[in-house]
This record gives sequence, C-alpha cells and structure tokens, in this order.
Amino acid sequence: MARKGYCLLLISRTAQKLDKVKAEIVAECPNCPAVKTMAVDFTLDSIYKTIAEEINALNGHVHVLINNVGMAYKYPEYFTKIPNSDKFISDILNCNILSVTRMTHIVLPLMEKRRSGIVINISSYSALFPTPLLAMYSASKIYMDYLSRALHAEYKDRGIIVQSVLPYYVSTNMIRNPGISFMIPSPDQFVSSALKTVLPGAAR
Ligand SMILES: NC(=O)c1ccc[n+]([C@@H]2O[C@H](COP(=O)([O-])OP(=O)(O)OC[C@H]3O[C@@H](n4cnc5c(N)ncnc54)[C@H](OP(=O)(O)O)[C@@H]3O)[C@@H](O)[C@H]2O)c1
Repeated sequence: MARKGYCLLLISRTAQKLDKVKAEIVAECPNCPAVKTMAVDFTLDSIYKTIAEEINALNGHVHVLINNVGMAYKYPEYFTKIPNSDKFISDILNCNILSVTRMTHIVLPLMEKRRSGIVINISSYSALFPTPLLAMYSASKIYMDYLSRALHAEYKDRGIIVQSVLPYYVSTNMIRNPGISFMIPSPDQFVSSALKTVLPGAAR
C-alpha cells in the first residue's frame, strides 16, 4: 500500500544529489504531497532569509526539522596547523553551529503556534568528551547537544520535542564509507533505529 507522508523540504549543497534523493522519495512514496529541494551552502551566513521565505511558503506548517548538516576535519590536526585555517574556522562554525541555531530559530515559532513539533539535531559521540586534533568539530557538537537539551527544557511544555542524537560511526562519505560492520551501521540502519527513540520525554 502506498504511504502518504509529509511534505518535505530537503536542503543541502549539491542540487544533483538533492534531485536524486527527491526521485527516490517520490518513487517510494508516490502519495507524498510535495517534495521540494533547495541547494544552499551552510558555510555562508547569508542564506537564512531565503530559507525562511521558502519555509514560510509552506503555509507556516512545519512538523519536523532535522538538522543533519555538518562538516568534519579532513584528517585530525593540531589547531595551528590546519591548512587554510581562516576559511576552515568560519566554515566549520557556520556549518555546524550557526546552521542548527538559525534553522531552529526560524522553525520554532511556527511549531510554538501549533503547540506541536519535533526538532532532531544530529550531534556526535565526539560531543561526549573533548577530542584533541578534532577540537573544533568536538566543540561544535557539544554546542549542538547543549543547545538541544536546553531548548527541549524550554519548549517541552509547549508540545515541542528537541532531540539531540549522538551517533558513533555511521558508514557515510564523512568517514569515507568504510562499509557496514557490527560497530558501523549503514545510514538506513542508523536512522531507522534512531527514529524509534523520538518520543515525548525521550529527548536526551
Ligand atoms: N558519519 C559518521 O560517522 C558520523 C558520526 C557522528 C556524527 N555525524 C554527523 O552526522 C551528520 C551527517 O553526516 P554524514 O556522516 O552523513 O556526512 P556526509 O556524508 O559528509 O553528508 C553531509 C551532508 O551535509 C551536506 N553538506 C555538507 N556541507 C554542506 C554545506 N556547506 N552546505 C550544505 N550542505 C552541506 C552534504 O551535502 P553535499 O553532499 O551536497 O555536500 C551531505 O548531504 C553530520 O552532522 C555529522 O557531523 C556523522
């Protein structure tokens, strides 16, 4: 039986990849009311007006926001030895910290109006302890975790769940697709397991 599903707005950097994911979703869920895509670069701080306009065009109904975008180091490195460091510093802070903050800030008021909503923020196990040689990555992920937990406390009584997810390794491009093993699930396996934890009161 065909599944119905939400209207979706997929936001990422590469238009062709977004089109491919959209085609997969439409094939699997032909009754999905709408799948829109938007190619933007989250290392820039100038994108949020356009994103807010696109979201407001959804008639102010946002049920779920997933903040998944993130970038890591190419390889572990001392803070002062990172190549092209001026650009890397602003890129990683914009992509990992500004993005979750601005996206949540755009969407929460819409959820507040409906007294319902779920925000899922993909942090990392590296938020659990300071990680030398990945210092900014690890620091950005604990920011995400603290932001999520504090916002969950602020908004849970208004019907909004803000969940912080701290994956260990998942076989993706970020870790150069090492393949699936007992310790490293595929993205599909990880997501289907993680989604079972999104319950009122289950937010980390
Ligand atoms: N994989 C792991 O082992 C692991 C572990 C813990 C936490 N995480 C976290 O999980 C999240 C997802 O990571 P992943 O492993 O799926 O990484 P990934 O394979 O590198 O995918 C990252 C996604 O973010 C998009 N993206 C990257 N930079 C962007 C930018 N500047 N602007 C817009 N979109 C951008 C990418 O789009 P394009 O492909 O178009 O660039 C891609 O869709 C991240 O927040 C990561 O920190 C991953």
